[in-house]
Order: sequence, then structure tokens, then C-alpha cells
Amino acid sequence: MNLPNLIEAKSRNRKDYNRIDYKIDDSIINKYKGKTFFIKTYGCQMNEHDTENIKALLIDLGFSEVDNYLNADLVLLNTCSIRENAHNKAFGMLGRLKHLKEEKKDLLIGLCGCMAQEVGVVEEILKDYKFVNFVFGTHNLYQLPEILDKAIEENKQQIEVFSREGDLVEGLPVVRANSYKAYVNIIYGCDKFCTYCIVPYTRGRERSRKKEDILNEIDKLIEDGYKEVTLLGQNVNAYGKDLYDDYNLGNLLEDIALKDIPRIRFMTSHPWDFTDKMIEVIGKYPNIMPAVHLPVQSGSSRVLKLMGRRYTRESYLELFHKIKDTVLGVSISTDIIVGFPGETEEDFNDTLSLVEECKYDNAFTFIFSEREGTPACKLKDNTTLKEKEDRLQRLNEVVNKYFLENNKKLENTTLKVLVEGISDKKGMYYGYSETNKLINFSGDRELNIGDIVEVEITDAKTWSLDGRLI
Ligand code: 5AD
Ligand code: SF4
Repeated sequence: MNLPNLIEAKSRNRKDYNRIDYKIDDSIINKYKGKTFFIKTYGCQMNEHDTENIKALLIDLGFSEVDNYLNADLVLLNTCSIRENAHNKAFGMLGRLKHLKEEKKDLLIGLCGCMAQEVGVVEEILKDYKFVNFVFGTHNLYQLPEILDKAIEENKQQIEVFSREGDLVEGLPVVRANSYKAYVNIIYGCDKFCTYCIVPYTRGRERSRKKEDILNEIDKLIEDGYKEVTLLGQNVNAYGKDLYDDYNLGNLLEDIALKDIPRIRFMTSHPWDFTDKMIEVIGKYPNIMPAVHLPVQSGSSRVLKLMGRRYTRESYLELFHKIKDTVLGVSISTDIIVGFPGETEEDFNDTLSLVEECKYDNAFTFIFSEREGTPACKLKDNTTLKEKEDRLQRLNEVVNKYFLENNKKLENTTLKVLVEGISDKKGMYYGYSETNKLINFSGDRELNIGDIVEVEITDAKTWSLDGRLI
């Protein structure tokens, strides 16, 4: 048994780590042929991509996927720790699984992802959730086949979580959710330690993949006909810092842009690491999509300092306008937290005025959620939940106003759209524009998923646009 440990999770060890190639033990390939699994994924794109690897590992063991957990021999929860409601959802699901297991004694239940890295969660599982067969963390996902095999063979709860990041594993098998767009990890972990955030503890220190490994993966995706890649990392702008002296996200984006791939996206960008070179490269290459996710979190320099964000309102705005002025037609989206401990009405008004200035194309807004073990938990917080909810509502009214206003400007223009499917409700095609807007459109000819087509925009809504195929 290996339990998570907060002290170890906090430590940042500059020593190099091993880069190894994944290899499954031959003796367990297809050992569980005929068994089925269901995996429920919570949280961000990183987790979605981990799920694509987990599915492939289970398939190597002989499992096949079913789309209803009631029909599965194994149910695995790939969890998220970012806010309390993600945590509660996973525990709610564990409650349902407990009842299911009372009727279906052989049901296997596993938990992985960020919550598995939390000391409190694992203690609770050991104490009150003995029916969970196995737990593994974000650093040892590649060990799933052996851990699961042991849980079945020994019929004993297995908890294997490393708090220090182990090896950086290349060559994990993958079953991608789509055949036209793909996630590609470029950097794992985060060293920023924003005071509210649990990610640096659950995902470990920043570790970049080697550029050759990333470029090879993208070559393979191009060969397989992929049209879009999204480069993933908790902070992609830190790419390369731990590995190279003079190769960063700007260089990587440029190397990828020179390949024959129509669409390149990347997320998430911390404003602190955004270099001029990156902005220049994003503006220069038409296959780097003009869409930047630039989380601001707060418009008050005082709160930003308490959050440990390493920039001020002014320096954020300077960067924001530099990107807007250099990358033609760029859309910028953001994340905002309201109700951070000590946020006053004046601080909140600073956030509203920043939003009025930035007129974001999209924004994800949250009420601060206390995460055990993070420094923000120790800060004094006098604001009531009612006030926080009220601030969130006021903020949402302002951000929504600008989503619609920006979308209205696109009426009667032509946008390039990557076709993703036909929507059940409307019987119309849908897809995303280069600036990441959801477009529903009618068409008089048959299109394939993955086609990139031109659509004339006829009607703007707050969260989507309607159009017609040209
Ligand atoms: N409470 C509320 N929101 C949070 N986020 C991260 N941690 C917390 C927290 N403790 C938000 C940030 C981040 C996004 C992914 O989630 O806005 O950018
Ligand atoms: Fe969390 Fe800050 Fe790292 Fe983003 S940059 S993952 S908010 S610590």
C-alpha cells in the first residue's frame, strides 16, 4: 500500500526523473477477456485525455467498454479535486455504487485521478468505503493493469498512490474519443502554487515532454487524418523551462505550425509566462487558432496578490491588449473566481470593470471553494455564501452581455467550421469556428465529421451561432 502524503506532494525536487517507455506484462494481456468496464470522467481535458489512456490499458487486459455502469463488471471513477462540487459528485457516485455492489457482489470499483492524490479522500476510502477495490493516482496511471490484476487475484483493497511524481512515461496506449481532433500532453504538473489551487499537489511539479516525443505523436496523428490537435498542460506556457535553455512554447508551436495540420490549439496559459515570441508565433501562422484562454481570476491587484498570481491588474491588461493587437481577430476567454477570502465589494467591482474592458468571448466563473491543504484555507473570510452567490450572478450578467455582443458582430460574416456532428435536437450540423465558437448550421449537401467548411452566420445567440453552409 502507498498512501498520498501532503508534505511530499508539496516538495519540488529539481533532480531529473526517468523517461521510460510503457510496457505491459505479457502474462496479463487479454487475461480478462469477456469482462466489461464503465469509466466516469470528472473535470478538465487533462482527465479526459487520461481516460483515453485508461481505456486503452483496460482493453489491453481484455476488457470491453459499455455505456451504462449498471451493465459493467468494473466501474472506474476518474476524479477531479478542483472544487468541492466535483468532489461531492464523485462521492455521490460511490454511494450509488455501494448499493449496486450489495446486489452485484462481484462488481469491481476503482477510483483514480486527482482525488486519489488527496490524503483526506484516501483516509475516508480506507475507513468508510471498504467496497472500493482499488485506488491509483495521477503519477502511476501506467500501473493500472498490475494494480487491477492484483486487486482481483488477491481479492483485497489495493491503494497505490505516489505523492512524488515518478517516471515520465512515453508510449502509453490510447483510445481517442474522436477521429478528427486529439489532445496531446506537452507538460505535466504545475509549479505556480496559486494559493487557492490544489493542482500543484495532485499533479506534481512541472515536467515537459521531450519535443521529439510530442512532434512524433503529432506526425502520427496527421498520418491518421487528424485535423486538430490541442496541446495540453496545466500551464502550457511553462513548456520547456525544465528541459531546455532556449526552446519554449513559442518554438514548439512554430515547429507544429510548419506541419500539415489545419488546426492547433493549446490550453491553459498562465499570464505570467506569456512571452512576446509566443504572441508573435500565434499571430504569424494561420493554422494556430486565434483563441487564447487567459485566466485572470480577479480584476483586483490586491486579491491577485493574495491569490499568488504573480501579476497585477495592470500587467494583465497590458498583456491582454498586446495579444488582441498582434493576433488578428483573436478570441480571448478566461476563468474568474468570486468570493476569494477577503474579497471586498470594491475588489469585486474591480473584477466587473476589468470584464467591461476585456469584453471576453467566453468566461468560466466560479465561487471560491476551500481546498484542504491549500494556503487560502487559512485566510480569513467574512463574506457570506449569499453575498458570493450574488456576486457570481452579477458577474455572469456582465460576461453574458459581452458573449452576445461579440457574437452579434459575427452576423453576416463567413467562418471556417470544423464539422463535429449532427445535433439531435435541431437536426443541424454543428462544429467549432477557429475562434472556438459553437456553430449550428444547415446544409444542402452531405458533410463528413472532420470536414472544414465555410458557414455564413445568420443569427447570434449568447453561447452559439446559427448559420448556413456555403
Ligand atoms: N475554487 C474555485 N475555483 C477554482 N479554480 C481553481 N481552484 C479553485 C478553487 N479552489 C478555478 C480557477 C482555474 C480553473 C480551472 O478553476 O479559475 O483557472
Ligand atoms: Fe492551479 Fe494556478 Fe497552477 Fe492554474 S496556474 S493549475 S490555477 S496553481
